[in-house]
Amino acid sequence: MRVTIFGTGYVGLVTGACLAEVGNDVICVDVDADKIERLNHGEIPIYEPGLEMIVTRNHQAGRLQFTTDAASAVDHGEVQFIAVGTPPDEDGSADLQYVLAVADTIATHMNDYTVVVDKSTVPVGTADRVSQAVAQRLTARGVDIPFAVVSNPEFLKEGAAVEDFMKPERVVIGSDDEQALEVLRALYSPFNRNHDRLITMDVRSAELTKYAANAMLATKISFMNELANIADRVGADIERVRVGIGSDPRIGYHFIYPGAGYGGSCFPKDVQALGRTAQQVGYEPALLNAVETVNDRQKGYVFEQIQSHYNGNLKGCCFALWGLAFKPNTDDMREAASRRLMEALWAEGAQVQAFDPKALEETQRIYKDQSQLTLCETAEAALEGADALVIMTEWNVFRSPDFGHIQDTLAAPVIFDGRNLYDPVDMAEMGFRYYCIGRPSIDPVKR
Ligand code: UDX
Repeated sequence: MRVTIFGTGYVGLVTGACLAEVGNDVICVDVDADKIERLNHGEIPIYEPGLEMIVTRNHQAGRLQFTTDAASAVDHGEVQFIAVGTPPDEDGSADLQYVLAVADTIATHMNDYTVVVDKSTVPVGTADRVSQAVAQRLTARGVDIPFAVVSNPEFLKEGAAVEDFMKPERVVIGSDDEQALEVLRALYSPFNRNHDRLITMDVRSAELTKYAANAMLATKISFMNELANIADRVGADIERVRVGIGSDPRIGYHFIYPGAGYGGSCFPKDVQALGRTAQQVGYEPALLNAVETVNDRQKGYVFEQIQSHYNGNLKGCCFALWGLAFKPNTDDMREAASRRLMEALWAEGAQVQAFDPKALEETQRIYKDQSQLTLCETAEAALEGADALVIMTEWNVFRSPDFGHIQDTLAAPVIFDGRNLYDPVDMAEMGFRYYCIGRPSIDPVKR
């Protein structure tokens, strides 16, 4: 099938590469000429396991092309995906200007029946607005060309996006146009071979499904973070509680890990946008508001622990920071808990020596003029001359470090762990003052 994808960001690029991988003829369009040029030279703008290989392979095979020429790209596709950004407005609602601009572009250049697919995360009712934008432009052109607008939200996890696309748990398609449904059924059939993963519904339900999924997951995390804070105060261990409740299949073990707060490109933005949608239709979303409030507070938690350990005197302190990305296996720093922490430490006059397996370049881009930040090429280098170690992302390489070396290198054996990677009893026995999330603090054994 001939497919056109607007937007070569995270979602557009993964979608384009995976659709090409199963034999479709895909053109990805972007207004960013620099990005398109880089892609045409084999440079992948994001780190995502497996992505580079399939982009390169399909680009070389001619099945995946990158262009800024919207007219020829629209002419190419039987299906036109909209996968451009929907950044939050000042009030937290999703800004649709890029989505609607693409709708207009498609309508400007289309000549036959076209299936327009909303892949971007968009508020309920956006498909109707996209339809209006297309219809308006067609009327202005004085032509009458049939089209359908379909909602097909993505559920990709960063760090596992290629795998998620190739082996989806579900493909949600919202449409009441039979022809469009048939086109998408055919397009997704290679990913739907052994089990039927296709779930079809009306457009508005599909749009809401995406927000509902992310808001539910964010709620689980905030709930556990709140419980962690209670556990802390009543002398219970949240990790034991987690195992205790997760064993109930109605609750399950997934997404109940307490930590330094959720980040990333989806949860913070989507919880907010769903809340704004609710308010716009006259409903006060008490639970969603609380999910956000708890997360916001949680993002400041490790900093509070640090401040309290040093009695509020952080000027001149130096912290080794392991983990910058908002989660492992990505270089994405959007809404990362590490950022809130670093900015709070700098404001207090502290220095940060940071290491991350993938996000150093991205951190450098964001904080290039920050003199209180040193980026280190190895985890060990970050420890040199530091007063304490802080862990903000649960990369596997941090799970079993050389504790002896940490102890020998730090000025004092103190660790602040925002991801509960180690056992507090073991840490105390090794002589560490170990702060974590929702577990009792144990006095280190004196040596
Ligand atoms: C999420 C959804 O999982 C995905 O389905 C959707 O399409 C996009 O948003 P992503 O943002 O890539 O994906 O990351 P995810 O793995 O969901 O983690 C989000 C954040 O929650 C991270 O900051 C992570 O550290 C945090 N988290 C996750 C917890 O704090 N505890 C958990 O138990 C799980």
